[in-house]
Amino acid sequence: MAASAAFIHRFEPATAPGLPPLLLLHGTGGDENDLLPLGRTVLPGAALLSPRGQVLEGSMPRFFRRLAEGVFDEDDLTRRTHDLADFIAEARTQYGLPAPLALGFSNGANIAAALLLLRPEVLAGAVLLRAMAPFAKPPVADLSGKPVLLLSGRLDPIIPAENAAGLAATLEQAGASVERRSLPTGHGLSQADVGIVGEWLSGKRAQAA
Ligand code: MLT
Repeated sequence: MAASAAFIHRFEPATAPGLPPLLLLHGTGGDENDLLPLGRTVLPGAALLSPRGQVLEGSMPRFFRRLAEGVFDEDDLTRRTHDLADFIAEARTQYGLPAPLALGFSNGANIAAALLLLRPEVLAGAVLLRAMAPFAKPPVADLSGKPVLLLSGRLDPIIPAENAAGLAATLEQAGASVERRSLPTGHGLSQADVGIVGEWLSGKRAQAA
């Protein structure tokens, strides 16, 4: 079966010209519907591509298996990252899209970071909301020129600040242009996240125009 058919997903075509599509990647227990309202808010008029993670933890969809909270099954993560990259490539052909910007939350942000490191060609950049370093030993990638926004919560009980800082350093060393902000909040998204992401994306839109 084609990868694009294998992922349950939602697709909303662009209603405005010249915007990068957003690849929406939900958190644990979410699905393909969760981040559509956020996508519509932060980049109105952009095409939205929103797959559902293929792993179930109990009844909760995820994008890859974990051994414990914050401890990842890296073999599964690697395989699932390639599956998702193949899905993106096929969906781009099917829907006629340029490379998308990933917008991922929590587990979705973690697989977006893994995509950047393992299959950088499939993304134009990424917004990583509450992301952790996906690999203990990160693969060497060329992310020259790719913009990344990384938003962490200072009160996040799941992600130690040094872990998010390590991810930012890895992405920067690979050549990405990383903006990292630490917000006075926990693991959940806040209104401040929405505002910062919207501003960052409109900056990207202005640069593209
Ligand atoms: C993960 O498993 O990706 C992280 O622990 C975040 C989460 O999904 O809770």
